[in-house]
Amino acid sequence: MRKLVAGNWKMNGTSADLPQLNALADQHGDASVDVVICGPATLLSRMADTGLSIGGEDCHPSSSGAYTGDISAAMIADTGATYVITGHSERRTDHNEDDALIASKATAGWNAGLHVIICIGESEAQYRAGETLDILRAQMDQSIPDAATAETTTIAYEPIWAIGTGLTPTAEEISAVHAALRVHLEARFGAEGSAMRLLYGGSVKASNADEIFALANVDGALVGGASLKATDFSPIITALEASA
Ligand code: 13P
Repeated sequence: MRKLVAGNWKMNGTSADLPQLNALADQHGDASVDVVICGPATLLSRMADTGLSIGGEDCHPSSSGAYTGDISAAMIADTGATYVITGHSERRTDHNEDDALIASKATAGWNAGLHVIICIGESEAQYRAGETLDILRAQMDQSIPDAATAETTTIAYEPIWAIGTGLTPTAEEISAVHAALRVHLEARFGAEGSAMRLLYGGSVKASNADEIFALANVDGALVGGASLKATDFSPIITALEASA
């Protein structure tokens, strides 16, 4: 299994930010781990020109049609991108996306030849109530389609309360959750579930990357804020390479 560090630029980035990617491509073009930047649709073509692996942040479940403002997986692939995120908590919460929709978006991504990063994560209230594993298992059951394979799919665990807050679960908590997710994936997908990458996301930065990447069943990270600047993202890539 090749480890993966993926940046998620969210609703950030204009032409002025493209040099950040050129810097990353120069420094990490031959990285021993997969490096992907998922960016806004407006920039994807130009991001792909840097030679880095690029992804969309979301896609529509249909391949084309009368869906004003939406972007299909085929359109994302047409930019030169090779990845797409589905089920990010900001889509689940801000756009009322449910597991069934997220599953159909994952299938759309595969049909367009994209590798799909499916996100799951519990809210702070669910965490405090001790419901984390129940929530995550249900999200996995319903938002990962049966056809998922290790080659086409990566799972990203992002506790909602850790996103953009500077808070993270303890190393013990991340370990316990990822171990449980692995057991659940293997029960459903067998060997494919053993080989499917499990990313951690939520306030990953250079200062905590080493500790997080040392944990069993953490096969990389999905990084928001710290992916926007090459000087912040580069040491995270280096930390994952050192752990691989
Ligand atoms: P932060 O790294 O900014 O906490 O964001 C995590 C995230 O949501 C990545 O998808």
